[in-house]
This record gives sequence, structure tokens and C-alpha cells, in this order.
Amino acid sequence: MTTTIIRGGTVVNADRAFKADVLCVDDKIVAVGQNLEVPAGAVEIDALGQYVMPGGIDTHTHMQLPFMGTVTADDFFSGTAAGLAGGTTTIMDFVIPNPKQSVLEAYHQWRGWAAKSAGDYTFHVAITWWDESVHRDMGTLVREHGVNSFKHFMAYKNAIMADDETLVRSFTRALELGAIPTVHAENGELVYMLQQDLIKKGITGPSAHPLSRPPEVEAEAANRAIAIANVLNTPVYIVHVSCAESLDAITRARAKGQRVYGEALAGHLVIDDSVYQSEDLEFARAHVMSPPFRSKHHQEALWQGLRGGNLHTTATDHCTFCAEQKAAGKDDFTRIPNGCGGVEDRMSVVWDAGVNSGKLTPSEFVAVTSTNAAQIFNMYPRKGVVAVGADADILVWDPEATRTISAKTQYAKGGFNVFEGRTVRGNPSHTIAAGKVVFANGELRAVEGAGRHVDRPAFAAVTAR
Ligand code: URP
Ligand code: ZN
Ligand code: ZN
Ligand code: ZN
Repeated sequence: MTTTIIRGGTVVNADRAFKADVLCVDDKIVAVGQNLEVPAGAVEIDALGQYVMPGGIDTHTHMQLPFMGTVTADDFFSGTAAGLAGGTTTIMDFVIPNPKQSVLEAYHQWRGWAAKSAGDYTFHVAITWWDESVHRDMGTLVREHGVNSFKHFMAYKNAIMADDETLVRSFTRALELGAIPTVHAENGELVYMLQQDLIKKGITGPSAHPLSRPPEVEAEAANRAIAIANVLNTPVYIVHVSCAESLDAITRARAKGQRVYGEALAGHLVIDDSVYQSEDLEFARAHVMSPPFRSKHHQEALWQGLRGGNLHTTATDHCTFCAEQKAAGKDDFTRIPNGCGGVEDRMSVVWDAGVNSGKLTPSEFVAVTSTNAAQIFNMYPRKGVVAVGADADILVWDPEATRTISAKTQYAKGGFNVFEGRTVRGNPSHTIAAGKVVFANGELRAVEGAGRHVDRPAFAAVTAR
């Protein structure tokens, strides 16, 4: 039995903050209250002057992802360990079957890869093609494998893009199963055409990447996904909302009473599109991700969306490739593997840029870094709250601790960090995952295989056909 007591801190949940000690036995929180008795043999953590918050949930990562002809640098161990160092105790990763690959087979493949995770994990499953077997497998995944969200890439033509028929059929199936559809919203046909035009004009470097994916391309897909969801009467979750136009689509739909959720990436909140203009092409390529980083105007809109309740979660889309992998696109930007890291830094970046600037309150921070994710994806109150009965995934958060982010000191692989040189004030002094202290005052104690798959039940007792 492991007993841990966190004493003297201020517990911050999404609904309120209050002074309390927190007692954990094995992997659960068993008491929250003032002046709790310290059980014999308990690990004691002094949280005086610190916040005690639910462990972060990153709703969007890609560990060990085979993508664009290569495989991401972080596997499930290095990626989840990096997350623990930064205060993220649960990741939501993606099973992405190749078109025509059995969805169930892909799911089991990813579960095998994820067994080495140091932190908890759960999967959205991408629907990249359609036939009767996909319809059947979606049912099996929801009923037997704890999956309650399905992902649809509206971009990546000739690869994993879902056409409108697939979207309509899959959204319909998700609804009858009590699962939530999610989308990567970019019009893949427009992206493809713009890419070909740029290449024909001889514009082949990474500065072409954002030109091939303007905000309108993202907004068209967001509007389309929202319209489809509206007709089918299903909720929908839009991943990595990067621009004001997509956010407007969500805001309009929500104002009319439609259940639409939006996710913002830490990177999109603080990094602007000037990175693509760098003469250091390796640096510019390292920032190639989709949707691309945008101008300050869009960053401000995203913060307003988070504060105003039209964006609900923060994530990273952690998808790391090293310089050699990115160099596959040195003569053709369309071949640069898309993706950037961040799982290790999201919590500190969102705290520093959000809470320290007054854009978010500490409780709003908790809402957008864990609670909303737990609620939207049906892990609440097991995750996303410091309360009796919840998993003992807890951060002891030192609001005064500063750290300068660098690839040189990070645990994540890939040799690059999009937040390089940023000094963040507000960092975890301790990360507790499933009741174990896995990070303490700069020392990472991640254990390969200690992470658990988090089953997420369907949302309602719907009779599936
Ligand atoms: O560029 C990105 N975002 N790479 C990962 C795949 C995706 O689109 O989420
Ligand atoms: Zn199975
Ligand atoms: Zn995406
Ligand atoms: Zn992604």
C-alpha cells in the first residue's frame, strides 16, 4: 500500500479553490480536508504556498505515430514520461488505421505500442475509410474497448482524409453508439490544390506551408463539420482550432444551442507565423505542423475563446520529428512530416501566458487543462478533479518556480522545442500519478509500463443497432 499526503496547499478545482490537505491511498484520493492526520509511513509532501491541482490531460498527442513516411521520435514511454515531468498525467492519443486497414486490428496494434507508457493513456480512433466492417468495429470499440470518441481528418488527401460520405456515416454511427465525433478541420482538396500551385510556381520551401493552409481553408471544414453534426443532431469536437474564423464557426453554432466543443493547442496560443519566414530553413521546417502557426490576431482570438467558453480544452498535438526526418521535405515543403512537440511544456506555457497575464484564473486554468477534457470525453470524476474517489493524479504547482524551456534540457525526443528560450513562471514541484510521486523537484521517476489504459464508457444508454 502506498500512502501519500499533500499538506498545507491550496486545492484548485475548476469550480473553486480552498485550503486543504489531500490524502491518497494507492491510486485513489481518499480524503480532502483541513488538518488531516498523517498516517504512519505516509509519504509527506509540503505544499505550503503551492497549488494542488488535478493532473493535466492532454487531449491530443501522437506517440510512435507512423506518419508521412516516418515514425514520430517520441514513443509512448518517452512521450508520457515527458508529460509527467511537465504535469500531464493522462494523454489522449490517436489510433490511425491506414485506409482499408481493419479498425480493430489498428486499435490492438496501438494498444500494444502504448503498453510501455509511464502515464495513463486513452485513444480516439480515427475513421479513415468506410465499409460495413468499420460500422461493426466502431460498435465493438465502444462496447468492449472503452472508446467513446472517433476522429476524422478532413485533410491529408491521398492518405488518411475522410470524405463527406465517411464523415456522415461515421458521425451517424457515433451518435447511435453514444460516442463523440471529432475532426481535424481543414479542407483537404483546397490544401492539395494550393500546394500544387505553390510547387508549380517554384515556391518549395517551408514558408509555403502556411500559404497552402490559410484560415479560410480551416474555417470551411469547421463550418462543414458543424453543419453535418447539426443535421445529424450529434455533438462534435473540433481539434486544434487555430484561427479566428474557425472559432467564429464554433461560437455561432453554440449561440444557436448546438453542442460544439473546441480545442486550442499551447503552440497556437503563443507562437506566431513569423517562424516560417526564418532564413534558417531547418528551424522553419521544425515548425511545420497543420494547421500552421498564425498571426497574433488569431492568438488573441483563441485566448478569448478559452476565456469566453467557446474553446474548452488545451492540448499539444505532440508529434515530434527530428531534423533529419523533417529534411525529407527540404526540396518540397509538402513532404515535411507535419508535427511539433509540447507535451512537456503545455501546462507551464498555458499557466505562464494565461494565468500570469490575468487572461485565466487558476480555476479556469484547471478547467481548460483537465476538467473540461475529462467531462467532454467521459472520464470525470475519475480524472479532472481533486476529490475523494478520483484517481490520485495530482500536481503540486509552484506558481513562483521559473524554468527556461530548452531542447537541451527536455525529456522529450526530437532535439527541438518550439518554445525554446521561453521562461515560464509556474511549474510542478511534484507530479503524482496513480498515487506515486513520479516527478519531484526536477527529478523524473517515470516507470516504463506504469501507465494504464483509461476506459471511457459511452455517453448514454443508447440502443446500438
Ligand atoms: O501537423 C500535425 N498536426 N501533425 C499531426 C497530425 C495531425 O494533423 O494532427
Ligand atoms: Zn478486441
Ligand atoms: Zn490534425
Ligand atoms: Zn494531431
